[in-house]
Amino acid sequence: MRFKAVDTEIIEQLKNLLGTESVFTEPETLKEYAHDETEDLYYLPELVVKPSTTEQVARLMRFCNERNIPVTPRGAGTGLSGGALPIYGGVSLSMERMNKILQIDERNLQAHVEAGVITEVLIDEVAKLNLLYPIDPSSKGSCFIGGNIAHGSGGPRVLKYGTLRDYILNLEVVLPNGEIMWTGANTLKYASGYNLTQLMIGSEGTLGVITKAVVKLIPKPCYNLLMMASFPSAELACQAVSAIFRAGMTPSALEFMERSGIEWVIKYDDIKFEVKNHIEAYLLIEVDGNNLDVLRTDCEKIGEVLYHHKCEDILLGESANEKDELWKIRRKMPLSVKANSVYKEEDTVVPRAELPTLLKGIKSIGNKYGFKSVCYGHAGDGNLHVNIIKDSMSEHDWKTKLPLGIKEIMELTVSLQGTLSGEHGIGLIQQPYMNIKFSEAHLQLMRNIKQVFDPKGILNPGKIFN
Ligand code: LAC
Ligand code: ZN
Repeated sequence: MRFKAVDTEIIEQLKNLLGTESVFTEPETLKEYAHDETEDLYYLPELVVKPSTTEQVARLMRFCNERNIPVTPRGAGTGLSGGALPIYGGVSLSMERMNKILQIDERNLQAHVEAGVITEVLIDEVAKLNLLYPIDPSSKGSCFIGGNIAHGSGGPRVLKYGTLRDYILNLEVVLPNGEIMWTGANTLKYASGYNLTQLMIGSEGTLGVITKAVVKLIPKPCYNLLMMASFPSAELACQAVSAIFRAGMTPSALEFMERSGIEWVIKYDDIKFEVKNHIEAYLLIEVDGNNLDVLRTDCEKIGEVLYHHKCEDILLGESANEKDELWKIRRKMPLSVKANSVYKEEDTVVPRAELPTLLKGIKSIGNKYGFKSVCYGHAGDGNLHVNIIKDSMSEHDWKTKLPLGIKEIMELTVSLQGTLSGEHGIGLIQQPYMNIKFSEAHLQLMRNIKQVFDPKGILNPGKIFN
């Protein structure tokens, strides 16, 4: 073992350094921080630290770096690739106490936040000022902005507004040696050497601990309209997606859901929605803007495209309540799928027009290896969450055939010019597929970057690559 085990002396020293109220060693607490939302994975940390200031994070990092103690940063634990799992034990560094919105700068349309702010809390606060922070993953009610940044989160509005990468202007980070730095400037433009802000985004807590962020805000559109369109086949629904954009429309969300996903949401979440017998898939489509007449015309034009692709009918969410109910179906899908069966999730992403080919390929790979899958996701940006369901598959087949099937799914994704993950990250569980996408030279370049930031390899060790 290349890391130092945490003994009572170290715990005492850390309590002196950070205050007893910041250091936790009780078994109940350790168990809570041993998992995130990734499958049923479980790795106990040796202790949990909950700092309240950047200074405390810096002191912790300096201490652990000097002693070779691994530190795994953690947001709200909603991750789906195992990024927050302390696989080598050591410290689970929870950012939950750094949860303040420090400033909403209305003059510059920016917000300054600590990393542990819940995403929806920020969205709601800026909405009161008619501003929009458009990054709203399904877990927005509990996930932290720092975790979103660490994973380069997306969510349903990327097709119109861009990913989180387009909304992070500047980051305060603590480097593994305890040094505190700001990565960029609070500006919309940045042509001043390597862009370390962008490097930090999606680095999954392996290069530095994100403690604060300056995020970009935009004016909040006054209106939105929502449509739920049903299709007799999943492939037809996927074909309609790129056709909508080709017809000149840019929805603010365009989500795809397969029938069984909706059935499980109805079963596990007590949602009232009727799925007709011959319907296999749905598209949930939102348009937003400041002119309601224009939005209505957009919906009509989108409707024409949908019917051209054999859409059966379109349900309109008119009141705020009806819209919420439709969005709930989509947002509750990940947890409903999880409640239904042991499953394995992939986060494939391809250029939008390749979606029908991807979906068809996934189903035929499933037939070859004997597994079912339910797919849903952000069709408008080509990001398909593939949930492989264990169901009646034997333990033996699950262990031996599934990895072969997933490998083929990844090969297909990459052959369509896509990549391994659109928004969940590589973390622990996608590592076996890295060499499908990246050459050895590419991987070595990434390892070298890690080495520069973290020569002792103490920060979130074993993630992205081992
Ligand atoms: C979603 C999560 C799983 O889109 O990314 O619901
Ligand atoms: Zn998603």
